[in-house]
Amino acid sequence: MKLSILYFSKNGHTKEMAEVIASGMKSVQGIEVGIFDLEHIDDEFLAESKAVVFGTPTYYANTCWQIKKWFDESRNYKLEGKIGSVFATADYAQGGADTAILTIINHLMVKGMLVYSGGSALGQPFIHLGAVALKENFEQSKPMFEVFGQRIASKAIELFASKEL
Ligand SMILES: Cc1cc2nc3c(=O)[nH]c(=O)nc-3n(C[C@H](O)[C@H](O)[C@H](O)COP(=O)(O)O)c2cc1C
Repeated sequence: MKLSILYFSKNGHTKEMAEVIASGMKSVQGIEVGIFDLEHIDDEFLAESKAVVFGTPTYYANTCWQIKKWFDESRNYKLEGKIGSVFATADYAQGGADTAILTIINHLMVKGMLVYSGGSALGQPFIHLGAVALKENFEQSKPMFEVFGQRIASKAIELFASKEL
């Protein structure tokens, strides 16, 4: 089963975390992951993906404009019925990463995606709206991002695997 991660990253932090999420996803049997920056999306792979994770740096306590622009021009990308999840990187805990995530979740809803974070239902690590990595504990956040990827992949298998048979 294919899963995609789409991100924008100017300085590499968001890209690095996309790769950690991918590694978590790949720990689930039968999962193939495509990681794409917004400029180099494999449209066919994305169309076949059962879940799409979006990653953004936090800009001015919100998503970066590059992600917003992508959604505004995404008319030809059919994302409905796919799982949609979000993560963000930020410099500061009070810097607005949750708002960045929620802005993207708004867009996922408009696209008809099935928004999923795992929530608190799965216990530790608690991931409420989406995974967040801050500058001050960037490296320590990686195991949580790995689990985030695992949870999304497991949910995709649970929801979609039998339909592929
Ligand atoms: C234009 C701009 C605005 C930013 N605004 C915020 C902000 O509001 N809050 C915050 O915590 N970090 C802010 N940052 C820091 C980035 O979110 C953070 O360094 C992020 O990890 C960068 O991701 P990247 O390395 O993938 O580009 C800003 C950075 C830039 C360049």
